[in-house]
Amino acid sequence: MRSETLMRSGGGQSRLTYLNHPHHQQQQQQQQHEYFHHHSQSVLPRLPMLISHKPLAGHQTSPQIAMTAPREGSGDMGQSTAQRQPTGSTIPDALSIQEHGRMFNAYRQGKYLMPNDGEEQNRLDLQHYVWQTMVHNRLNFAPIRDDSRVLDIGTGTGIWAIEFAKRYPKSTVVGTDISLIQPTYSLPMNCSFEREDAEDEWMFDAPFDYIRWRLMASCFRSYKDMIYKVYAHLAPGGWAEFHEWAYEACADNAETEEYYNGSALRKWLEYVVGGGASLGRDLRSPLHYRQWMIEAGFTEVTVRHFSVPLNGWPQEPAASTLGNMACVNCLQFVNSVTKFLLAGGLSRDALPAFVDEVRANVRDRRMRISFPSYVIYGRKPDAPATHHGESMRVDNILNM
Ligand SMILES: C[S@@+](CC[C@H](N)C(=O)[O-])C[C@H]1O[C@@H](n2cnc3c(N)ncnc32)[C@H](O)[C@@H]1O
Repeated sequence: MRSETLMRSGGGQSRLTYLNHPHHQQQQQQQQHEYFHHHSQSVLPRLPMLISHKPLAGHQTSPQIAMTAPREGSGDMGQSTAQRQPTGSTIPDALSIQEHGRMFNAYRQGKYLMPNDGEEQNRLDLQHYVWQTMVHNRLNFAPIRDDSRVLDIGTGTGIWAIEFAKRYPKSTVVGTDISLIQPTYSLPMNCSFEREDAEDEWMFDAPFDYIRWRLMASCFRSYKDMIYKVYAHLAPGGWAEFHEWAYEACADNAETEEYYNGSALRKWLEYVVGGGASLGRDLRSPLHYRQWMIEAGFTEVTVRHFSVPLNGWPQEPAASTLGNMACVNCLQFVNSVTKFLLAGGLSRDALPAFVDEVRANVRDRRMRISFPSYVIYGRKPDAPATHHGESMRVDNILNM
């Protein structure tokens, strides 16, 4: 297992700066090395399994089913949001309201900025398969026991929690979310779901052995507070693990970089990150998780770097297949971030044409872009830690 560091402080750096920095180019090459090396070895053999994926209990959707891209010319509006298509079941949350033609959580109305309807549930399931392919089908990287007490924060459709509970039947898995969009039937006995706002005081009295979240960068006001909270709710010796994308893109070469810099896709990312900031969501927060984990008291903090291509542009077949899956997810994701785009300054009138332009970029094979992604995990020590030395080291790393 390779231990690495996040080598930038993120927050406000433009993509171009990141791309042009020689250190980052080296890092990018390392990431691509890890990506292509692993994928050529380990993803290809799994692809038939993925493509003929047997639905999980309570999840009647499958990758092929989920891979339904939005139509051209639809902007964010006018899409039917009712069903996970064609045979999957939408799990509607009664506490939802309609906005911008989509359904959103109303338990904490206005707090979570992406939808919770069938279209989004489809997308979350597809995103799970994309992510699992990228991380070589590992459900966890932290070395946890198979009888662990597990908490999955912001569990979404619960697809990871169910899969983990099935793979480790001695574990006890709880998934929490502000939206109740998880199945209630055919669940493994060791898996359950609760409605909970993770920023509220947690209702659990017993500590967990493993607390994790995935792709929550748009959800919380303070990730630092959340990481400290995770630490407090872990048993001594327990592990935390976070899987994130930090809303960045990397170009494959200088030509693509120029092409990308003039594109609607780049503007889209700027609108989303800018909109997030104006709504109190720092989408680049994952770049600081390592530092915050060490400050909270975690030890053995490890960062793994991954990368997912925008579409099927890579020549290497497994990478290209992953990119093709990611492309469909991206086409749907573009449709999920309307609130961020509007908050970022895009006008409602300009929205449909802009979104269509972004979608064209997403499908464009000349757009040789990848998204750096991170798995970050660490252990709560058996005894209270004094970690001043570690904090110093992180400061140094973030200043590189
Ligand atoms: C982008 S989705 C990720 C879902 C899931 N972790 C996955 O990777 O498939 C974010 C999820 O977090 C939930 N969420 C957002 N804010 C939350 C909060 N404050 N507390 C609990 N869940 C939250 C949303 O309802 C949504 O299901």
